[in-house]
Amino acid sequence: MSEKKYEKKITCIGAGYVGGPTMAMIAAKCPQYKVTVVDINKEKIKAWQTDQLPIFEPGLLEVVKSARDRNLFFSNEIDAAIDESEIIFVSVNTPTKMFGQGAGKTADLQYWEKTARDILRVAKSDKIIVEKSTLPVRTSVAMERILNANEKGIHFEVISNPEFLAEGTAVSDLESPDRVLVGSRETPPGLKARQEIVDIFANWVPAEKIITSDTWSSELSKLVANAFLAQRISSINSISALCERTEADISMVSKAIGSDRRIGAKFLNASVGFGGSCFKKDILNLVYICEYYGLPQVAEYWENVVKINQYQEERFVQNMINTMFNTIAGKRVALFGFAFKANTGDTRESPAIFITRKLVEEQADVVITDPQALSNAKEDLADIIQKVTLEPDPYKAALGAHAIAIITEWEEYKGLDYTKIFNVMEKPAFVFDGRNILQHKQIFDIGFNVYPIGKPGLSHL
Ligand code: NAD
Ligand code: UGA
Repeated sequence: MSEKKYEKKITCIGAGYVGGPTMAMIAAKCPQYKVTVVDINKEKIKAWQTDQLPIFEPGLLEVVKSARDRNLFFSNEIDAAIDESEIIFVSVNTPTKMFGQGAGKTADLQYWEKTARDILRVAKSDKIIVEKSTLPVRTSVAMERILNANEKGIHFEVISNPEFLAEGTAVSDLESPDRVLVGSRETPPGLKARQEIVDIFANWVPAEKIITSDTWSSELSKLVANAFLAQRISSINSISALCERTEADISMVSKAIGSDRRIGAKFLNASVGFGGSCFKKDILNLVYICEYYGLPQVAEYWENVVKINQYQEERFVQNMINTMFNTIAGKRVALFGFAFKANTGDTRESPAIFITRKLVEEQADVVITDPQALSNAKEDLADIIQKVTLEPDPYKAALGAHAIAIITEWEEYKGLDYTKIFNVMEKPAFVFDGRNILQHKQIFDIGFNVYPIGKPGLSHL
């Protein structure tokens, strides 16, 4: 298609876990639009242009390939892409700020603000700027102030369009989202810009699933959605601790309460703790906002979701140490999984990082296996990498180990030959199932001492 024939030109700044997949889906579903994804990271852009994408996400390569070089382009030419597009999605990272005011809680908006300044410098015509990144409520006001302070007579309309995809299921989440949320100012130019964004998603998302709102509600809804999801996990994890003391079974409790349609069955899997780049960051951001607006009780309520998660991770390691006769120094411990969840190589805020560091502190000989996350593990543990072993093969990882700890719920860990594994381990052999994915009775019958989450342990000792 020649340049002139595209109906719209869309740029996305930030080619990460969100920018790459969301833009690939828009391009795949809307061949009439030109979609350019730009990033300051040259390696990442190069990888998006090959079949070795920079992120592991099931089904993504097919979507990318269906549109790449037709109407989907990856580039480092940020200025050129800004200049030619009337719609600019911004999907840069917004990590927790680690310095100055709000350190450890609020979002670090330096990357986001830098893109606003790039847009301001380059733009020669009116543009719609779409917040795809997760941002504190009312960020769009600040952005509009920065952008509309220009002396070129250009008008910018800032729209909030938070992303709800989960890693590992990004393709189906984008293809059939529960909802798409588009927030704008409720002024004539705001509503016009909102409609432009709605029109993009209307190419494949049913109208009743596209929710529109004011900008603030949209920004806040994203933080609150993550806070509610994480709250469910902390709630069930807190009860898992009680189950372990009372011999109740957390899976039964989850099933019993989740069958109530008002509660629902999802996000009730007790685990070693939630990870991922967003839950903790977004809740702490919510906490900061509540404190800022003088609501300490509300802030404290949400902060406890993060505290329980930390408690769950600590509990898991402590249980390992206590069970293995209060010392793990010199003992080989195999971690099955390092990614923060299955079907991704992403390790940001993975409980595996905390657990590895604790085990190493106790002088255990830690060996980590994971089908996708070992290169990220190497970076996360750079300062202690000489004290851990990275081993792609779980059978080799278990060789001579005293214990296996399941950290990530990879499907393949369910189907391993645990008799073969038991035979090459030191005895007594322990399994700590941080995801409750194994058949505990069967594993116990092989000879393992088995310690699930929120269920009575099965011990031969
Ligand atoms: P990411 O780190 O994977 O990607 C961000 C990209 O932005 C990086 O490639 C970085 O190089 C690039 N970047 C930073 N500053 C830039 C600049 N000035 N110009 C051009 N590129 C720049 O992050 P992510 O996981 O994609 O998250 C992005 C945002 O989306 C965050 O706000 C996050 O909270 C939100 N979010 C993430 C997920 C998820 O599953 N990861 C889901 C929903 C929302
Ligand atoms: C989460 C949300 O689900 C997305 O809607 C949101 O867009 C995204 O955060 C974001 O803003 O970044 P994600 O972190 O990719 O997505 O993955 P989840 O499936 O939510 O899992 C998060 C963590 O919770 C993982 O460590 C997972 O193992 C854990 N988890 C999940 C449990 O421990 N128990 C459960 O029942 C569910």
